[in-house]
Amino acid sequence: HRTAVVIPAAGKGVRLGPGAPKALRTLNGTPMLIHAVRAMAASRAVSLVVVVAPPDGAPEVKSLLDAHALPDRTDFLVVPGGESRQESVRLGLEALPPDYDIVLVHDAARPLVPVDTVDAVIEAVRDGAHAVVPALPLADTVKEVEPAQTPGDPEPVVATPQRARLRAVQTPQGFDRATLIHAHETVTDDVTDDASMVEQLGLTVVVVPGHEEAFKVTRPLDLVLAEAVLARRRL
Ligand code: C5P
Repeated sequence: HRTAVVIPAAGKGVRLGPGAPKALRTLNGTPMLIHAVRAMAASRAVSLVVVVAPPDGAPEVKSLLDAHALPDRTDFLVVPGGESRQESVRLGLEALPPDYDIVLVHDAARPLVPVDTVDAVIEAVRDGAHAVVPALPLADTVKEVEPAQTPGDPEPVVATPQRARLRAVQTPQGFDRATLIHAHETVTDDVTDDASMVEQLGLTVVVVPGHEEAFKVTRPLDLVLAEAVLARRRL
């Protein structure tokens, strides 16, 4: 098997507050994207990383990657991204050379995922799963609401799914290449992760244990947490 990773990194990161595109914000001095690429390259199974840059930022991202050493076994490509995460992933897939049969998709916004999680995802695809997601049980109870017409208005609760049956899904998500490409060609609904496109094809997606440190850097407090995790690793 040969494994490649597509990293969508074209998001603006509006929820993080004003500043550079999210993937280029630094954590302890190093851009989040570089942390994310290194987290993928840490797996001995990964031999190619395709980074999907902001639409006008591909040259900048390319020089950033040139400036940060990766293991010799890992190549990288940079392609410009699109309007939505889904489109960015599709553009990354289009740039994949033919000889990779396992594809991971990993958010640049999850820079600290441990290598054991990456390897567990790859292992499950090697064992025959069409699609694999790392996930954790929830701490919070989750409610479905009828979204307010006016932001800030009280929202009626519609349902409370049984918490013990819910999982919070992370990345990298792993796929056999043909399945992921077929899903991106077929499913046009708005989705927030790649595995849900495979679910829509009627195929089974399996869950492997995720990791607390694979959390998504979304809001300002997440930057504080990410830098604390990095500082603890250096001890
Ligand atoms: O917005 P969200 O946090 O869900 O973004 C998840 C990942 O998708 C991020 O790594 C972001 O850079 C990427 N993305 C993208 N192209 C977009 C929007 C988001 O590559 N147009």
